[in-house]
Amino acid sequence: MTNAYKIAILEGDAIGPEIMAQAIRVFDVLAAHCDVAFELINAPFGASAYFDHGKAFPDETKTVCDRADAILKGPVGLSHEASKKIPVDEQPERGAILPLRARYNTFANFRPIFLSKDMAHFSPLKPEVIKGGIDILLIRELVGGLYFGSKKRGINGAGLRYVHETLEYDEEQIRQVLVVAFEQARLRKRRLHNIHKSNVLMSSVLWNEVLDEVHEDFQDVEVIHLLVDAAATALCLNPGQFDVMVMENMFGDILSDQGGGILGSLGLMPSACIGPEKAYYEPSHGSAPDIAGKNIANPYSMIGSVAMMLEMSFGMRSEADAVWNAMRNVFESGYSTADLIAASDETKLVSTVEFGDRVISHLSELLAGP
Ligand code: IPM
Ligand code: MN
Repeated sequence: MTNAYKIAILEGDAIGPEIMAQAIRVFDVLAAHCDVAFELINAPFGASAYFDHGKAFPDETKTVCDRADAILKGPVGLSHEASKKIPVDEQPERGAILPLRARYNTFANFRPIFLSKDMAHFSPLKPEVIKGGIDILLIRELVGGLYFGSKKRGINGAGLRYVHETLEYDEEQIRQVLVVAFEQARLRKRRLHNIHKSNVLMSSVLWNEVLDEVHEDFQDVEVIHLLVDAAATALCLNPGQFDVMVMENMFGDILSDQGGGILGSLGLMPSACIGPEKAYYEPSHGSAPDIAGKNIANPYSMIGSVAMMLEMSFGMRSEADAVWNAMRNVFESGYSTADLIAASDETKLVSTVEFGDRVISHLSELLAGP
């Protein structure tokens, strides 16, 4: 029997629709070559959803997502100026993304920081630092900590404006993401970097305590503890020392963007947000309003998010590998888009759509077999 999957498509804002249009072509190619069917259901999400429907995450979209086997989400958000037209609570970060994560308890965020050897020129780091490319899996806790704590602002007794924001984790929230990180480390090099700030934060003290307990069940995995500030330096000086890294929500937000920095662009960062029952997939970057509508945004992170969905939600590992290979092939053949750094004077610049055309044509060849 043909496997059939229902996928909610939230194309998002600014460059979102442009890169999503390329990503969903992958589903057509797979359906044509493999014994699988996809039903794609578009639903409004983000700033455009607010303007059209009065809500950044409308109820109809929630229903579509509830019924889907997996969710593919494009970047959301507008320029700083344009965002001011939206009430604070409906701005897409607070009004759409965080509620989406909370709704499906997507506690484990996989952010691969990956550059193949042939893509190493994209990195601003020196070749002797990069060596054979970069291959790190950053795992970020995604539904706890400061981003989800209670928030309050007001005037204090001295008449000064003040703010109070809380960071809370219970041991179960910490344990569940650490278990995922240890499992991934076991599947890779059995080396796990635990990123924390236990010299200052009590939350890190508890985090590390729970880590020691979970480690009992994964004694074949080596744990290396590193303070988050030192980790930021180490990522630049010697990224090759890292394999799997795990950290709480805000540390992961910041270090994963630094990951994009050492790759040369956040446009090279797809991601997976995994919950107990549902997962959604999204680029790690924002909606880049400055380059929207120009047909120059690279769709790698969006197409890569599809590859992660194929593997992690549908167990289609070899098809996912074919998608990655197809994208690498396009870069290796000397093509790139204008938003990424050029490899050399010979780099052939193509548009978002032409980049998609090339990925799709390689993918069709790979799936058709020899
Ligand atoms: C990310 C983004 C989000 C976050 C924002 C848009 C809410 O920066 O996915 O990294 O902070 O998690
Ligand atoms: Mn971020």
